[in-house]
Amino acid sequence: FQYQKGVKHMYENGIEHVPNKYILPASERPNVVINSEKSSHVPQMSVQLPIIDFAELQGPNRTQVLESLSYACQNYGFFQLVNHGIPDEIMNEMVNVSKRFFEMPFSEREKYMSTDMSSPVRYGTSFNQTNDGVFCWRDFLKLSCHPLPETLPYWPTSPLDFRQLAVTYAKENKYLFLMLVEAILESLGLKNKEKKTKFEAKNENDDDDYIEEILKEFEDGSQLMVVNCYPPCPEPDLTLGMPPHSDYGFLTLLQQDEVKGLQIQHQDKWVTIQPIPGSFVVNVGDHLEIFSNGKYKSVLHRVLVNSMKHRISVASLHSLPFANTVRPSPKLIDETNPRLYKDTDFASFLQYAKSCDSSKKNFIQSRK
Ligand code: SIN
Ligand code: FE2
Repeated sequence: FQYQKGVKHMYENGIEHVPNKYILPASERPNVVINSEKSSHVPQMSVQLPIIDFAELQGPNRTQVLESLSYACQNYGFFQLVNHGIPDEIMNEMVNVSKRFFEMPFSEREKYMSTDMSSPVRYGTSFNQTNDGVFCWRDFLKLSCHPLPETLPYWPTSPLDFRQLAVTYAKENKYLFLMLVEAILESLGLKNKEKKTKFEAKNENDDDDYIEEILKEFEDGSQLMVVNCYPPCPEPDLTLGMPPHSDYGFLTLLQQDEVKGLQIQHQDKWVTIQPIPGSFVVNVGDHLEIFSNGKYKSVLHRVLVNSMKHRISVASLHSLPFANTVRPSPKLIDETNPRLYKDTDFASFLQYAKSCDSSKKNFIQSRK
């Protein structure tokens, strides 16, 4: 039961060895040590993700940026978003207040503990602590952000400024997501009429309502904020901060601090993502893979821990409303592009997640 108190608690109590509960079978260990005095077993592969300049996306080069966006979503499932318009102060304050949350005594953090996956606030540890056979080196705070008037009363009230800062961040994040979704749809060839040139508008007329409707659904869509805390780990080569998984939603906007840790699977290798201060790492989730009928890929990723530094990340997961069904867009299916995925909904995902040990990496496969 002591594991259920999480890794921050163990770290604070001066743990010197990783308990057995956290030791991965040799074949699943990361095989690399980062941010450590010990030298690496394996040379570390780093990759520069495609960079999407959000400001440029709104200007005269939109078409080229959309091409880069499409390339990134097809070949990496990930990109770094820079110049996204959320002020540095709001970004920094969010990481800062998250650090302060995890620095509070365990007795304060414990108040938000819950294993109920539908709870509007959930403090916990590992990936899915009720099922994980092997635990991972992460504590987290999950906040449901929609509908805000209903979920906000459950959010932490300490640190005192937590709610105010997190709400500001969540609202900015939602707005940015909606702008990004529009670009993603456009990059898939789905575009609003008023944004088309006159020439294009003459040739097509039925897409408009369809796109407007999707965008409206996203306005009322689900939004989950996950604040992750990875304390230093005495034996980082034996465990992981997060096991390999894909994200179930449409898009995830991840803010990481300056400490490396996130790895993605790229061309059959695990590669480390270099943090770019002030940017978002954006990734394609399972729902977007399904919606795009497999054109865009929801890519496996995992988190390494290290023996020296705390790492904080804030992941914002966006998708359609919980009650909606996710299916391949009919506009992207034709004789040459047959439908590749079954319908899905949140209920079947939750059912799947509940029954699954450690990682939901195969959820997308089960939808084919
Ligand atoms: C995640 O996969 O949602 C978190 C990744 C990270 O902490 O970098
Ligand atoms: Fe993830």
